[in-house]
Amino acid sequence: MAAKNERARLIRAASKARERACAPYSKFKVGAALLTKRGEIIAGANVESASYGLTCCAERVALFNALTNGKKDFVAVAVVARVQGGPMPCGACRQLLAEYARLAKVWVADSQSLKVVKEFTVRELLPAVFLDVPKHSD
Ligand code: THU
Repeated sequence: MAAKNERARLIRAASKARERACAPYSKFKVGAALLTKRGEIIAGANVESASYGLTCCAERVALFNALTNGKKDFVAVAVVARVQGGPMPCGACRQLLAEYARLAKVWVADSQSLKVVKEFTVRELLPAVFLDVPKHSD
């Protein structure tokens, strides 16, 4: 299990990343940070578009940032936003986390009370996951 100070460090990184969110439409700023087995932290924030559907959540921005910079073996992801109890990752992010951060813990916190952290696992947030495209065809 990750040390408690690592958890606090990751939550702080997510909170810091949140400051760079581009959320002019919803005004809901979200920050996310991934922790690798080697102790590296890679962060991201949500980016919204005037064409709303193009918006990308903080978790996926962080994940794509990490993956395309050669980072893997994620042990935890922290997500911070101004919402009581902390923000719960959306279904799309849960899918990507299940594919690329299957063994990770998920820590969420309200940006106004970073010391109160809820913990989940990716597995429990997305049970019975779709992981492989079947090989057979018609
Ligand atoms: N959002 C995230 O960044 N992460 C989530 O898990 C849920 C939603 C963002 C997307 C959008 O910019 C804003 O929150 C409102 O949905």
